[in-house]
Amino acid sequence: MSALHIKHLFGLRGVSQSDIRTILDTAMDFRQVLERPVKKVPSLRGVTVVNLFFENSTRTRTSFELAEKRLSADTINFTSSNSSVKKGETLLDTLRNIEAMKIDLVVVRHKGTGVPQFLADNSQAIIVNAGDGAHEHPTQALLDMLTIEQHLGSLKNKRITIIGDIRHSRVARSNLWGLTTMGAQVTLCAPSTLTPRNREFFNGVHFEQDVRKAVHEADAVIALRLQKERMDDSLLPSMREYRNFFGITREVLEQASPSALIMHPGPINRGVELDSEMADSDQSVILEQVTNGVAVRMAVLFLLSGGRASE
Ligand code: CP
Repeated sequence: MSALHIKHLFGLRGVSQSDIRTILDTAMDFRQVLERPVKKVPSLRGVTVVNLFFENSTRTRTSFELAEKRLSADTINFTSSNSSVKKGETLLDTLRNIEAMKIDLVVVRHKGTGVPQFLADNSQAIIVNAGDGAHEHPTQALLDMLTIEQHLGSLKNKRITIIGDIRHSRVARSNLWGLTTMGAQVTLCAPSTLTPRNREFFNGVHFEQDVRKAVHEADAVIALRLQKERMDDSLLPSMREYRNFFGITREVLEQASPSALIMHPGPINRGVELDSEMADSDQSVILEQVTNGVAVRMAVLFLLSGGRASE
């Protein structure tokens, strides 16, 4: 029996505050493990995890693989580009063949919204969403939350501003659900063409189109990558214009709290959504986000496999 009330991690929408708390607290414990000379625990010995990536990834795939190794799990990496998907094999057949090799957990990234749920409906494995289309990227939001908590102590009533391509961003969606569940005050800022059409997005959050007003007194500013691969060319006049109105520059950051955290899920389009000067500044916690990603993914895999959080 898992310490969580969820069997799979499809997204953060609907995940309870207590489950998010358990994941973040467990990740904090694993963060300590990652500081030791021997960064490995036997928690998932005998468990087999397949990393099923149908979309490109640097951080998430590497981080899941490292998390699995740190937990002593057996891991298999599947990338669609060098698999039989190229010969026409369906997603379901791919899953069934991999499952026939007696795997326990599947970490999946796919361009299709709902693919993690589809795999769970057709398999006995525990499924973890590593990003499905523009829908959710729950472990990214969890690592963002862990990073904010490490610096600010708590998420409750903290002002978090998320800026950029909200419409195509699974990171924005997962952060929105997770941060509001944990009591943060979320402000979204995007050009009108990159603003979600779905009104439910604005429930419980503030929307502000002026970037300077959006970051006013913010405790953390999350700049999002422009998702060009999901975008029609006509949505933005030019990258230069986007940078002029929505880019995070020193001058824009002057409106935020003096110690505001600068965050980005990566990969960064430097000089577009975030100036290099800001990305590499003392206020930037972007590489800490990456470090925390391993701890968060360890926590998710451990807890979903039935591990108990420490008392
Ligand atoms: N943040 C994130 O998902 O990065 P990758 O696409 O490199 O995994």
